[in-house]
Amino acid sequence: MSQAVREMFDRISGGYDTLNHVLSARRDLVWRRKAVALLPRQQHRILDLCGGTGDFLIAARAAGVADSQSRVADFSFGMMVPLPQKGLPPGIQADALRLPFRDATFDAVLCGFGMRNLDDLALGTQEVWRVLKPGGTFVTLEFFQPTTIAAKVFYRGIAPIAIPFVGKAFGSSREAYDYLVRSIRRFESVQGYAGLLADQRFQNVRVKSLDFGLCYAVAGAKVE
Ligand SMILES: C[S@@+](CC[C@H](N)C(=O)[O-])C[C@H]1O[C@@H](n2cnc3c(N)ncnc32)[C@H](O)[C@@H]1O
Repeated sequence: MSQAVREMFDRISGGYDTLNHVLSARRDLVWRRKAVALLPRQQHRILDLCGGTGDFLIAARAAGVADSQSRVADFSFGMMVPLPQKGLPPGIQADALRLPFRDATFDAVLCGFGMRNLDDLALGTQEVWRVLKPGGTFVTLEFFQPTTIAAKVFYRGIAPIAIPFVGKAFGSSREAYDYLVRSIRRFESVQGYAGLLADQRFQNVRVKSLDFGLCYAVAGAKVE
């Protein structure tokens, strides 16, 4: 499946930022800022994993917590094409399940709307653990299986109708928003994901609900 996912992101990369901002009514910018606030207030060498067009790293830079060695990694080359135009260094093409970095390379790993795409979630979190330095922080920003009433109403009632409608109005490809709805439906609940992080030895796992559970930021620390 991962090759089909990579090819889809390559195909939709040109319109990705617009689709993102339109479908979230620009709330993604606020969610990223709040997720970055879960990092300790110091400069970090950050890996923006499944980082795509780099907006999560841009939010970390704006908050003053990303150092100059921070990088975006993604398996879709197309998604990373805009990085230099957005003032970021060129991205590193890499599969999240087999990262080309030595153990203990990064102070922090951010992953925005990426974990949901992985074929093997446990392996993905193990790779994050491996590349984090001891004391490092992993922050996930993600849409999970809805558990709050607001999220259930949105994801089961409104999203399947509104997302294709809005997506079409802004000329986005049907496969992108179909995939978005499907991938949320089959992903973990936030509680399940927090449990998985704890099983993978992450400590001090914190869950922050954003916009009544429409989105969540989850942070965990590598403590050895
Ligand atoms: C929904 S986009 C999110 C992009 C960006 N992080 C953001 O916050 O807007 C998901 C990204 O995950 C990437 N991705 C999916 N599976 C991956 C994998 N196994 N390894 C690396 N990147 C992956 C896709 O290419 C895509 O750029």
